[in-house]
Amino acid sequence: MSTDSTGEYDGPVTEEITVTVNGRAVTATVEPRLKLSDFLRDVCGLHGVRVGCEHGVCGACTVQQDDRTVKSCLSYAVQADGAAIETVEGLDDDGSLHPIQEAFHETHALQCGFCTSGFVMATKELLEENPDPTREEIQTGLAGNICRCTGYQNIYDAVERAGEKLTAETGSEE
Ligand code: FES
Ligand code: FES
Repeated sequence: MSTDSTGEYDGPVTEEITVTVNGRAVTATVEPRLKLSDFLRDVCGLHGVRVGCEHGVCGACTVQQDDRTVKSCLSYAVQADGAAIETVEGLDDDGSLHPIQEAFHETHALQCGFCTSGFVMATKELLEENPDPTREEIQTGLAGNICRCTGYQNIYDAVERAGEKLTAETGSEE
């Protein structure tokens, strides 16, 4: 709560922040209590950021902040001031699917799809760090994300396939 010099309530405390979201600078005036997930969904209109548990458990809200995955329900928008955020919407820049998205599609790694953007973003970080993970390393890498309808096997297949695609892509550029 904010009060003026007379002690009267004069509205909520707000702060101006600028966040680079999917390569575009977004400046907004927000309350310090606004979660990063709500900022991305409600201020930026990026509904690929899903809000499930809001307790850091399900991973549906996973995005990258300065190239590291974060659960955006666990931080506040003001903490992202000056940072670069990438959401699932930022993965393609020409209307075509990212290789990870292609792999999820090709291996039928989604059913309702609610968890998918979080899995895709977690997969991105996993494959950036380890382009050819074992099945056990994939399970560990995705342990922070929960899916209630795929049974996981197709998701793990998707990560393997995405790794192959990205490695082939990198190889073809060399
Ligand atoms: S909504 Fe953030 S971890 Fe579940
Ligand atoms: S595809 Fe339904 S929760 Fe994962």
